[in-house]
Amino acid sequence: MSNPFYQKDILSIKDFSKSDLSLLFSTVNKIETLEFEKRTRICRGKILANLFYEGSTRTKLSFETAMLHIGGNIIGFQDTKGTAIDKGETLSDTIKVVDGYSDAIILRHPTEGAARFAAEIAEKPVINGGSGSEEHPTQAMVDLYTIIAEKKEINGLNIALVGDLKYGRTVYSLLYGLAKYSPNIFLVAPPQLKIRNEIHNDLDNKIKMVEIDDVESIIDKLDVMYVTRIQKERVPDPAEYEKVKGSYIIDNKLVENAKDSLMILHPLPRVGEIKSEIDNTKYAKYFEQAHNGKKLRASLLSLMLNEETI
Ligand code: NCD
Repeated sequence: MSNPFYQKDILSIKDFSKSDLSLLFSTVNKIETLEFEKRTRICRGKILANLFYEGSTRTKLSFETAMLHIGGNIIGFQDTKGTAIDKGETLSDTIKVVDGYSDAIILRHPTEGAARFAAEIAEKPVINGGSGSEEHPTQAMVDLYTIIAEKKEINGLNIALVGDLKYGRTVYSLLYGLAKYSPNIFLVAPPQLKIRNEIHNDLDNKIKMVEIDDVESIIDKLDVMYVTRIQKERVPDPAEYEKVKGSYIIDNKLVENAKDSLMILHPLPRVGEIKSEIDNTKYAKYFEQAHNGKKLRASLLSLMLNEETI
């Protein structure tokens, strides 16, 4: 089978088809069944550069663990402090240099378009690890994988996206990912944080989406509830943030009428939107989702850095 990920930049979920994603997901399971020797040969001698201009826990650590899991090595920074960026080095120069040190580059940057810009400069493939509020394609891959691993398919599922649908990059990428399948989507956000018009223009005739104000009225129908944090750092006005913070709180009372099979997901970090009392319920799948990040990213790196599939 030809490998659509080989040496390819991973900039947007829009660039990958449903069959590309199927290959990515089936490779996860194949890697997990390999014995240690074979698994750690997949990226032996290869170097991944992690350039994080913005904070990260899961994306950075899961990419690192993924690369180690398949035998590769990692370089990079988590903070521009202590790098030449602090002395005024441009993104373009940093990318040119790191391109010569590594086999693939992950860039997380607060500016929209930064990953695309880096991909034009680098010869090696660039992975968008989150660019402003624009895109977070590998998180969408993790989210779709987590839903499929549990539910077997996405078609026909009732999926609610709850919280900051305007500034959240994970929601943006996930919606374009979900639009490759045919679920029923419920968008639950305060008026100030509804999805951007661009998404309506692109997806209104591709996928069933309904905007509603509260989760209570649909909780009994839901198969998946994807909760997000209000992106405080991207809401332009602190007074606006104060108005919307705490708009949706997921607690035991809310899930009283939920289906037994409801999955609650969250890209994390959470800052109060899901109460910790939910953690011990059968609905809580967000830590499993974070753990899937390692497996999914190992699959992605293996396909990007080896032409032959497993
Ligand atoms: C998200 C991000 O950075 O966009 N985190 C992640 O990568 N899992 C979500 C967020 O910060 O709210």
